[in-house]
Amino acid sequence: MSGIYVHGYRPEENERLRDQAGTLVEQLHGDTAYPAGSQVLEAGCGVGAQTITLATRSPEAHFTSIDVSPDSVAEAQRKVNDAVLTNVDVRQADVFALSFAPESFDHVFVCFVLEHLAQPERALGSLGTLFRPGGSITVIEGDHGSAYFHPDSAAANDAIECLVTLQRRNGGDALIGRRLYPLMVDAGFEAVTVSPRMVYADASRPALVDGFTKKTFTAMIEGAREPAIAARLIEPGRFEAGIRDLHRTTEADGVFCYTFFKAVGNRGR
Ligand SMILES: C[S@@+](CC[C@H](N)C(=O)[O-])C[C@H]1O[C@@H](n2cnc3c(N)ncnc32)[C@H](O)[C@@H]1O
Repeated sequence: MSGIYVHGYRPEENERLRDQAGTLVEQLHGDTAYPAGSQVLEAGCGVGAQTITLATRSPEAHFTSIDVSPDSVAEAQRKVNDAVLTNVDVRQADVFALSFAPESFDHVFVCFVLEHLAQPERALGSLGTLFRPGGSITVIEGDHGSAYFHPDSAAANDAIECLVTLQRRNGGDALIGRRLYPLMVDAGFEAVTVSPRMVYADASRPALVDGFTKKTFTAMIEGAREPAIAARLIEPGRFEAGIRDLHRTTEADGVFCYTFFKAVGNRGR
């Protein structure tokens, strides 16, 4: 595995990813549908949060969903079984050592994976050989530099920066969203389009405040508490103040914004 997965595999992390997927499903996936009979590779499926959405929304496409973590694969398989989906195969595999024959798929889908890889260019390059000319690759990533909020807080920004630093030290890039266009073009994909998807949460959107600001973003930053303090990136009191201020943005007069980036590219014929 190239690059360590900084968020870990704890049950709370699984819950966070489920909440994230549920809240953002329309915004991120509303425009993704695969035709009947198409073969789709989902690389880095994790616990299957996106898998269920993809396979439910494109019931006549077939999905091969892979992840390097055996525990995540087992959980994804459980979810597929619970959802009684018959159009998904879940397998344990490393995106850098895939044994599929070239052009085995029509489309490739990658979500929240490149940010954890030390060599995202190499991952895109090898994924590019796996789908047929005329097919597409879809990549969705976040960018923690896109988080801004009211009331503003230097402590909250310091806490967020801890996660960015930890991820960088693990070889990843928590700011990768803004790099998707050059990464996709450099990987040789054609007709690359990137669409930013801003999540805007205020008190008039309680599901987003709860599902995204609290249970997704703030929970993710809270997950960095122990490693950030252990690495002496921040004083414990400063980190707690940052988390408190992130929660403060979920009050009646608070606002939270974050932008995801969705890139789609084709493989030339
Ligand atoms: C943030 S999770 C995203 C999971 C899922 N795509 C989602 O959106 O919920 C990142 C996943 O990438 C997986 N991953 C990291 N490096 C990988 C590699 N080299 N090959 C395959 N999967 C990898 C991790 O195990 C983890 O499950």
